[in-house]
Amino acid sequence: MAYFGVPQAHENDPERAVRASLAVAAAIKEHQFPLSDGSFVRLGVRIGVNTGVVVVGSVPGEPPERREVFGSSAHVAARLQGLAGENGVVVGASTYELTRGTFNYVPLGRRPLKGVEEPVDAWSAEALAPSESRFDRAQRLPLAPMISRASESALLAEMWQQTVAGAGHVGVISGEPGIGKSRLIRQFRSSLDASRRGVVSLQCSPFHINTPLAPEIERLRRVTGIQEADDAELALAKLRSFLAREAPNVTNALSYYGAVLSIPACSEYEPVDLGSPFERDRAFQAFIDVLIAASRKRPILIDVVERPAPTASSC
Ligand SMILES: Nc1ncnc2c1ncn2[C@@H]1O[C@H](COP(=O)(O)OP(=O)(O)OP(=O)(O)O)[C@@H](O)[C@H]1O
Ligand SMILES: [Mg+2]
Repeated sequence: MAYFGVPQAHENDPERAVRASLAVAAAIKEHQFPLSDGSFVRLGVRIGVNTGVVVVGSVPGEPPERREVFGSSAHVAARLQGLAGENGVVVGASTYELTRGTFNYVPLGRRPLKGVEEPVDAWSAEALAPSESRFDRAQRLPLAPMISRASESALLAEMWQQTVAGAGHVGVISGEPGIGKSRLIRQFRSSLDASRRGVVSLQCSPFHINTPLAPEIERLRRVTGIQEADDAELALAKLRSFLAREAPNVTNALSYYGAVLSIPACSEYEPVDLGSPFERDRAFQAFIDVLIAASRKRPILIDVVERPAPTASSC
């Protein structure tokens, strides 16, 4: 049994739980377990994930560092596990609500569970969803009316006016998790005339701290529509059509962007070797050239969500 959110809560604990579950199921599927007679056996696993309120405390007579968790959520998770097939991951309704869009789910319908009064809705988690649908979801979440933040909004508006006039600005918004940083940016973005500005959205993620340029790779996949399953030719065609609109020198940009996106060599294209510091500098220059070319056509708002691990303070 694993708890996500206890003792340290993160904004995305349900997502972490489902990611971990899929990783466990995939790892078990791949693994052969050795037996004492030298042979091997394969094992299967079933996983249930449920999200809900629990009470966490120590039990009289037990060591104080030993925490116990009370509440029906864990019981429901154990029962959901019973609905999973071999190496399957089944989630309950609130986990589904909090993570749909992030994962591909297959509905299992409303199921009676032993020891649970009402039947519960269950879904089978299949895989991580493509990055554009994960991004769309974050943009589409329903919102309560905006309250206050007039002075912060005015400051952003003023910086933008100066940017449009040719003097670029950098603003940093920081604060404790949930204070309203993303909301402020979203409000600001929607206040701008969409036809007269470009937006580059980069999202850092604690899941990718070891991947250089991960936010840019994710953004490129999103804007080019390149999918995990695309072969090199198709990925290259999508990248080429994006760069034809954006890059001053398409052939040069293609070899750097292609390398960052790990597209292997194919017809009339050779990725550069980013292991060389010289080529890495040139790669950054190629990205900067594309941005500068775009900003000559219209002002660009670059929003970067930085999320240092393990405590979230972002902007
Ligand atoms: N001024 C506001 N008026 C109304 N709702 C708000 C306001 N600020 C934030 N919210 C709501 O509060 C919730 C949390 O806000 P938001 O996601 O912007 O926080 P955050 O600071 O970006 O958090 P994190 O550090 O986790 O990224 C959202 O549902 C958001 O719509
Ligand atoms: Mg945020």
